[in-house]
Amino acid sequence: MDAFVIEGGRRLKGRVSVNGSKNAALPIMAAALLADGPLTLHDVPDLSDIQNMARLLGELGCKVAFTDDGHMRLEVIDDLNCQARYDIVRTMRASICVLGPLLAKRGKATVSMPGGCAIGERPIDLHLRGLRQLGAEIELSGGELVATARELRGAKVFLGGTFGSTVLGTANIMSAATLAKGTTVIESAACEPEVVDLANVLNAMGAHVRGAGTPRIVVEGVEKLRGVEHTVMPDRIEAGTYMCAAAATNGDVTIDNCPLDAMAAVADRLEGIGISLDIVDGSDPMRAAVSVGSARRLEPIAVTTQPYPGFPTDLQAQLMALLTLADGNSMITEKVFPERFLHVAELSRMGAALYRQGPTVMVSGVKKLIGAPVMASDLRASAGLVLAGLAAKGPTTVNRVYHLDRGYEKMDQRLRALGAQIERVKMT
Ligand code: UD1
Repeated sequence: MDAFVIEGGRRLKGRVSVNGSKNAALPIMAAALLADGPLTLHDVPDLSDIQNMARLLGELGCKVAFTDDGHMRLEVIDDLNCQARYDIVRTMRASICVLGPLLAKRGKATVSMPGGCAIGERPIDLHLRGLRQLGAEIELSGGELVATARELRGAKVFLGGTFGSTVLGTANIMSAATLAKGTTVIESAACEPEVVDLANVLNAMGAHVRGAGTPRIVVEGVEKLRGVEHTVMPDRIEAGTYMCAAAATNGDVTIDNCPLDAMAAVADRLEGIGISLDIVDGSDPMRAAVSVGSARRLEPIAVTTQPYPGFPTDLQAQLMALLTLADGNSMITEKVFPERFLHVAELSRMGAALYRQGPTVMVSGVKKLIGAPVMASDLRASAGLVLAGLAAKGPTTVNRVYHLDRGYEKMDQRLRALGAQIERVKMT
């Protein structure tokens, strides 16, 4: 198992370019199951989650190939197998994305029920409710969701849950509705930019999707969809992580290919801390060049994670790492995954002063963090620990970085290029 060994205290300096978004790419890859022709994707990041999705699609008869110039080509060559096995679903919850496309195109799907994970319980009731409203019959048998539909029919689907809407649930219902008979209206749809990216691909494929990016999405079903080419949007979470890394090291970093237009809440909170974000090139606001300036003194802030356009839960751990060094008390409230705080105990091992009460953590700023061996628990928590390690005095070992490799391409190499002292080592 790999670990990162970080010698903290180096200021990050230079340029880093944001990769394509993992969370946009995964449901878009699954949408290849809907097409009668090849889907060619540009800017798909090279991550273990993407490889897992490619493996799953391969099992479902969708050939996934990488072209010489690094693009991904997906084409269904066999539509007999409709089963997503537990040993893939358990490594990647986003496997649930194949449920809607399989049902819509093949009329049946067996997908292992995803279990809980480090960030909480993570039910899929809204996905199932939505698909049932479109006419699917779904049963749970031996841990497998067995879904069938002779024909999906457009319907009114409400996707609001206790913690807001569901991102992948919206992707599933929207994808399934493209081939349903009639009109589907999704109310309380997730407004995340990754949903918009998926809708753009579906429309290019011949679907009629309107309203993506708003809480009401209307889909007019069509007979068939064709293959197209698409460039995946840049990853706003990766961009935000490098912004926090620059700020935590008092650095001077320019972030290229930055989807700043989709990061208003992140920019607002970072500016509240005293970090300057200067647009160097804003000609395409979804692919901007942004210079992140450091602040001599980090101001404490209050932040609440929320569905888009609120502050993303996927940046909560990274922001917490940064706020451990602010000059005063900050409050972080988690409204999307209220149990997503496994990094709190690990950051405390590095000298952070954190007090949790339910979904809220008070972060009492300290003068410095002290390097320590820490354990990564999930993807974004790992990123928070790496950031803390970069800012800390002395060596930090972040164990189990396979979590990190699920969502950050070559993070160690990219941080090293910015001047960080960070090595990937094999642990026994
Ligand atoms: C996606 C992202 C993940 C991000 C999350 C929230 C991908 C691959 N993953 O996950 O990185 O942290 O959005 O922005 O895109 N819920 C229900 N019932 C459901 C579905 C969800 O109650 O059927 C709850 C969840 O437990 C959670 C909230 O709704 O509290 C949001 O979850 P959801 O948007 O579905 O997360 P994912 O789409 O799985």
